[in-house]
Amino acid sequence: MAQLIGGLATSHIPAIGGAIHKGKQNDPYWKPFFDGFPPIHQWLGKVQPDVVVVFYNDHGLNFFLDKMPTFAVGAAATYSNADEGWGIPTLPPIPGCPDLSWHLIRELIAKEFDIVTCQEMLVDHACTLPFKLFWPEHEIAPVQIVPININTVQFPLPTAKRVYKLGKAVGEAIQSWDSDKRVAVMATGGLSHQLDGERAGFINKQFDLQFLDSMETNPEWATQFSDLELVEKAGTQGVELLMWLAMRAALTVSASGVRKVHSNYHIPISNTATGVLALETV
Ligand code: DHB
Ligand code: FE
Repeated sequence: MAQLIGGLATSHIPAIGGAIHKGKQNDPYWKPFFDGFPPIHQWLGKVQPDVVVVFYNDHGLNFFLDKMPTFAVGAAATYSNADEGWGIPTLPPIPGCPDLSWHLIRELIAKEFDIVTCQEMLVDHACTLPFKLFWPEHEIAPVQIVPININTVQFPLPTAKRVYKLGKAVGEAIQSWDSDKRVAVMATGGLSHQLDGERAGFINKQFDLQFLDSMETNPEWATQFSDLELVEKAGTQGVELLMWLAMRAALTVSASGVRKVHSNYHIPISNTATGVLALETV
């Protein structure tokens, strides 16, 4: 059976792509953010996942407001990158893992998740940037991916409780996949940020740190909040932290729990509180 080796999470601000492109990692503005990654690079070099299941949110590229699935699972052989207008460099297509995609899709539907299956799926910065951050030496990361899109763009959003259940079901499906592959789960987005409206620039450090701590010590903590409570606490785009919750829930299938490899928190990049986290299943 496949082995679920751990989880990764990072913010996905488009400006990061510009900084990587221009080689600004050591500039004073960027260094505290990029300094969060080398310990995780070391760990990834050791554990070498073959496949990464990525919880991310499309920002209006592949799904627009006229048709917005709550949960959508990619089942493509490759995922082409495009973006929704930020001007960051486009990356080469990322290879998919249709075998795991279809296994996940079958298992999720059997467990009553009414997902959309996508045999074609364009992916934006939320799906591509994290791979440049976690595998900076590679033009495309040496892994196959299964993208799972969670709607955090158009209200109503899925509840945190529902996202947690989805993540757990994904973890169970990975463990029951008949394969000798090593699989990691990844979350992209957050932490607290609001890009528009009266509260544009809103950041909530206290909430973010509590949330980060819950990833280690109390994974269900954030499931107490409704979608609007999450907006209040984390900002209209800070609700992207639902992706982190799904990633963490997937790891609860590890009977002996998880060990933190490394985390980092830095305010701000752009208008956003940034976080990075790696957890290893024990
Ligand atoms: C920013 C953050 C995001 O999550 C995003 O998708 C786009 C922009 C930002 O902080 O600039
Ligand atoms: Fe975003």
